[in-house]
Amino acid sequence: MNLYKKIRNVAFLIEPEKAHKLAISALKSGLHIPSDNNSKLLKQKVFGLTFNNPIGLAAGFDKNAEVPNEIISSGFGFTEVGTVTPIGQPGNKMPRVFRLPEDDALINRLGFNNDGMEIVFDRLSKITKKGIIGVNIGANKSAIDKLSDYQMGIKKFSKIADYITINISSPNTPGLRDLQSGQNFQELIKLIKVFKNDGLKTPVLIKLAPDLTRKQLELIIDYSIDGKIDGLILTNTTIERKYIKNKRYSNEDGGLSGKPLMQKSTKILRDSYTISEGKIPLIGVGGVSSSRDIIEKIRNGASLIQLYTAIVYEGPTLISKLKKELISEVEQYGVKSIADLVGTAIKK
Ligand SMILES: Cc1cc2nc3c(=O)[nH]c(=O)nc-3n(C[C@H](O)[C@H](O)[C@H](O)COP(=O)(O)O)c2cc1C
Repeated sequence: MNLYKKIRNVAFLIEPEKAHKLAISALKSGLHIPSDNNSKLLKQKVFGLTFNNPIGLAAGFDKNAEVPNEIISSGFGFTEVGTVTPIGQPGNKMPRVFRLPEDDALINRLGFNNDGMEIVFDRLSKITKKGIIGVNIGANKSAIDKLSDYQMGIKKFSKIADYITINISSPNTPGLRDLQSGQNFQELIKLIKVFKNDGLKTPVLIKLAPDLTRKQLELIIDYSIDGKIDGLILTNTTIERKYIKNKRYSNEDGGLSGKPLMQKSTKILRDSYTISEGKIPLIGVGGVSSSRDIIEKIRNGASLIQLYTAIVYEGPTLISKLKKELISEVEQYGVKSIADLVGTAIKK
């Protein structure tokens, strides 16, 4: 049993949100395991940015940009702060995060608890960034015109973010996922086009749900190519429950993340790569916990990957381990760069 697994037995006696707060505090006080075993095999340029390695920390861990540099120093190739909404909000009532240890999974219905964009902007503008930091933006629960919240987010964060993620896939804000369909999505693309026509240089990505139908996905990709969207993130958490063994908490409302999400999110990723014919860079997220999972996402169309839940179950040393294993896996393929593996599991 590794050290983290021993610590985990104790950590899991603490409520998930308290344990998360402790993790943020530990990072803030300088307690992180430095990792720099990057290799040129893992380095690549995606939507104009150079990533030292393809492993990013997914949105939701550092919602308020409290520790982005510490996360980069722990070995991640990039991190995504947020989701940030225009006005700070408390989120849903507690308890709202549940561990499903038998499945290496979590269910959360946090509901975009965050400090709001002014505070997060302030925090981010005070640091000297040590690496690629994306900002994930959302809409307030109380917003009547949700699109205008995204407009405010883009305007605010395009000045300091390395990329912006439009999160329209959280299951925990009523009506948010509706922005993924039909006319709503078209309106969103129109809004982004206006920014791009006005000279916006910051890459804009859109984060999608794993619960989309093929038809919805085809429309989204069509509009995204037309709107010159810089990338898609596939996927957020799922509202489906058929993948979990655990009985306790399995009926809690919210989004399921972790191992049970791997297959479903990779399927949507693969479909997106096929539908888009590789024309839009994709970030694969959902259930990644090993270097094999990373290679699977990459071979099914992802240029980069992100993870969150695996850190809860495997601990902070996971990143060093993943990078080491990844380097030797890429070497075995005999390619010059990990970028050469993107989409190779899909027949052309
Ligand atoms: C506790 C928790 C909070 C999350 N909060 C956000 C969020 O604020 N915005 C977002 O886009 N995704 C959020 N996510 C989703 C993750 O970014 C990711 O898409 C999802 O968990 C699947 O990856 P994983 O299986 O590696 O955890 C959250 C996930 C968890 C577990």
